[in-house]
Amino acid sequence: MGELTQRSRDRVTGALLAWGESRLRDLPWRRTQDPWVILVSEVMLQQTSVARVLPKFDAFIDRFPRPGDLAEAPLGDALMLWEGLGYPRRCRNLRDAAVVVQREHGGRVPDDIDALLALPGIGPYTARAILAFAFGRNVAVVDTNAARVLSRLVGEPMKLAVTQGLADDVVPEGRSWEWNQIMMDFGATLCTARAPACDRCPLSRLCAWGGDINRPDPAVATQGTSRPQPKFEGSDRQARGRALRAVAQQPLRDEEVFAAMNMIDDVDRAKRLLGQLLDEGLVVRVNGTVTLP
Ligand code: ADE
Repeated sequence: MGELTQRSRDRVTGALLAWGESRLRDLPWRRTQDPWVILVSEVMLQQTSVARVLPKFDAFIDRFPRPGDLAEAPLGDALMLWEGLGYPRRCRNLRDAAVVVQREHGGRVPDDIDALLALPGIGPYTARAILAFAFGRNVAVVDTNAARVLSRLVGEPMKLAVTQGLADDVVPEGRSWEWNQIMMDFGATLCTARAPACDRCPLSRLCAWGGDINRPDPAVATQGTSRPQPKFEGSDRQARGRALRAVAQQPLRDEEVFAAMNMIDDVDRAKRLLGQLLDEGLVVRVNGTVTLP
């Protein structure tokens, strides 16, 4: 399972590099090899689309150009700039990571997989992205796009470890930066989850699945490919976002936070959500009001 011959691997890399050369999207985190800037971008992109990260990215980097700048800032300042990206625990973890980088690594993002994995909020995907994009290491960055592309090529659903092994095998030596960026763009724009453009695909003759609608898409049962996001409207996530936005404007009493969440009729739920935000340190209580930390 999860096999490609050496010959087909070479053809895949050749065809994809040629495809990507003229098509790689120009994105701000692709114009730098600064490990901190790349780390920030990858954390933002973990759960937020490129389109929603773009309008937020530059302001965050301008305010926190080095890990020490974020480590020394109040979390509330960072949360204000994070607004609109969602999943604000990532912002808290990012600041915690900046503190560790500052304290234990002299303000430099480490280039070692174990040290990266020890940073709050950095998992195997993000650690590898930093190694490939900032340090040019020959590692494969297996995000949901890469997992989808590879499972279709092989024609079978795959477990994450198999996908990772195969992905590592196809990284062209010395070109891991381009290769991984191209894989992401190829998956995001051509080999998409719902409407793959197989008629325009440079890999169509090498692809075991080939967009055959009579055969189940191997990507669907492949580990690490994205599942539909839970509904946002009416969710806890939406209500927590509203609460954070409201207290970012000014300190509020509990009832005012419940109102901002549209939950004056469901105070039990509102209290539970506010309790979570307090426990997670995303808001604090000062003089009887709720405010940003
Ligand atoms: N998603 C995660 N990392 C990315 C990157 N470097 N470019 C585009 N999309 C991404």
